[in-house]
Amino acid sequence: MNILLIGFMGCGKTSLGKKLAKKMDLKFIDLDKIIEESEQLSIPELFNSKGENYFRQLEMEWLSNFEGEGYVISFGGGTPCFNANMGIINLLGTSVYLQMNSRLLTDRLFHSKQKRPLIEKFKNDKPRLILEIEKLLKSRETFYKKANVIFEASNMSSAKLDLLVELLKNKTSR
Ligand code: S3P
Repeated sequence: MNILLIGFMGCGKTSLGKKLAKKMDLKFIDLDKIIEESEQLSIPELFNSKGENYFRQLEMEWLSNFEGEGYVISFGGGTPCFNANMGIINLLGTSVYLQMNSRLLTDRLFHSKQKRPLIEKFKNDKPRLILEIEKLLKSRETFYKKANVIFEASNMSSAKLDLLVELLKNKTSR
């Protein structure tokens, strides 16, 4: 079995994924990291030098060739929204949409030090940032909502994490 984590930029896929993998005794991988390592470039460098389409191609190729079992995989915020990716994600295991409202996402992204090419130019203009995030989230939620589990991911406490673990154990043991 695999657990596939999807959701908007900044919703906590990577940090939650690491904790989830530890608690469920699964291996953790992060697609952005895999792409950065294989290309020897950071995501912003990759977008700059080769463009977004090239990055989307890499995401799709990786997904189409993945065959492992026993993983928690966190994807980039856009991965499920391009090509037939969401369909492939759902074939690989239990997908979880970490849902968070646009206001909280904006706060988190506004304070994040990580560079994200799609929102970098609005980064210092919070009213503009929230508008962009609302727009992007609205168009992406159609894909995210195809996940097997929709989990409200704000205020993640350890009790809330345990709840998610139990829910996923029940789902995957059936
Ligand atoms: C993207 C999200 C990023 C990264 C890239 C594109 C997106 O990952 O894949 O910058 O299209 O939403 P995070 O969701 O981990 O920030």
